[in-house]
Amino acid sequence: MRTQVAIIGAGPAGLLLGQLLHKAGIDNVILEQRSRDYVLGRIRAGVLEQGTVDMLDEAGVSRRLHEEGLVHDGAELCFGGRRHRINFKELIGKTVTVYGQTEVTRDLMNARDESGARIIYEAESVSLHDFDSTSPKVRYRKNGEWGELDCEFIAGCDGFHGVSRQSVPQNAVRTFERVYPFGWLGILSDTPPVSHELIYANHERGFALCSMRSATRSRYYLQCALTEKAEEWSDARFWEELKRRLDEEAVANLVTGTSIEKSVAPLRSFVAEPLRFGCLFLAGDAAHIVPPTGAKGLNLAASDVHYLSRALMEYYAEKTSAGIDAYSEKCLRRIWKAERFSWWMTSLMHRFPNTDAFGHKIQEAELDYLVNSRAAQIAMAENYVGLPFGD
Ligand code: FAD
Ligand code: DHB
Repeated sequence: MRTQVAIIGAGPAGLLLGQLLHKAGIDNVILEQRSRDYVLGRIRAGVLEQGTVDMLDEAGVSRRLHEEGLVHDGAELCFGGRRHRINFKELIGKTVTVYGQTEVTRDLMNARDESGARIIYEAESVSLHDFDSTSPKVRYRKNGEWGELDCEFIAGCDGFHGVSRQSVPQNAVRTFERVYPFGWLGILSDTPPVSHELIYANHERGFALCSMRSATRSRYYLQCALTEKAEEWSDARFWEELKRRLDEEAVANLVTGTSIEKSVAPLRSFVAEPLRFGCLFLAGDAAHIVPPTGAKGLNLAASDVHYLSRALMEYYAEKTSAGIDAYSEKCLRRIWKAERFSWWMTSLMHRFPNTDAFGHKIQEAELDYLVNSRAAQIAMAENYVGLPFGD
């Protein structure tokens, strides 16, 4: 089998890249190790920046997003028993859209099916070869039979645990990492959201986040120990703990119910540099991880795909490699901005074990400064709603 671009992974990065390249007439094949239903069963991000929405528009997959997505003008920070609204719209004239990653993925998969472009689910033992030459290959096994894909470029969109980054010689890549001493326990429930905007709460018992997927479906998270198991949290225990971490009004408005998903995710900051190795490009979680507090993971994957899709289109249309040569540097500038913001918001909102009374006072002072300084709120709003995706 031959193609121009082999894409490893059918998460949001791989599917969006595939769709944009297909629309530009660049042939591509997506290889995904899991089944379609497995990929759709993973509950992850929920907040889309305008730049991500613009890319989904460009890919022609945003009809449902505009019908069902919830446009939010602001978000609330809760601490000391009170809520404080950060009004993005008033501060910087921008908004975010709440629309689940699962739905983004579903829309992209449906578009892929309609386009007839090739996607191979349940591709096992994927391996990357000769990407330091001009004729790279990808091998895989499907239904017990081996397949080989000859291509011109490989896009490694296979997430943090994928094979792409691991295929690069260790001395060619530098990594930067911070693992946080806590995780997030998340639940999804068919209950109306507690508030019409997101609430990020800093409480002495730990961070809590109230989010949503629609007017009838809520997503809540609690900071938890890394040793915590989702099975050990009954729904009743989850709701009790959430109530302890919210303000009185939120507690009064909280509608509890049966959870339809419950999972624990660790928190990590990670960057691999560079993002290009010959004909192999890393994009999305394959290259970097942010802790979820700033809602940046999915948006950063979309911004990598913005740069990569443009670079490849330029290469095929104009026979210039300027875009692909600049890919890594352009992405990394944006990645480190998102890494800084996600680290800052994680530090601001969580309880860190082994932090002394001075540390807690400084956190309180920082929160107080934020909600009383227009300049600080503008800075937060600019980072949260996201900078425009550059050229
Ligand atoms: P992924 O979505 O990870 O997709 C990679 C794909 O590659 C997967 O489908 C995988 O099956 C496939 N793959 C892996 N290895 C191979 C292989 N060897 N061969 C072929 N295919 C392979 N972000 C937020 O902003 N908010 C959140 O609340 C949030 N929660 C998260 C919870 C969890 C548990 C995780 C893991 C991430 C979360 N994120 C969150 C981050 C966000 O979901 C990711 O940044 C986003 O999914 C990145 O998209 P991606 O396409 O780069 O990677
Ligand atoms: C959601 C997740 C986040 O990490 C975040 O910062 C905001 C919302 C969510 O899943 O809805």
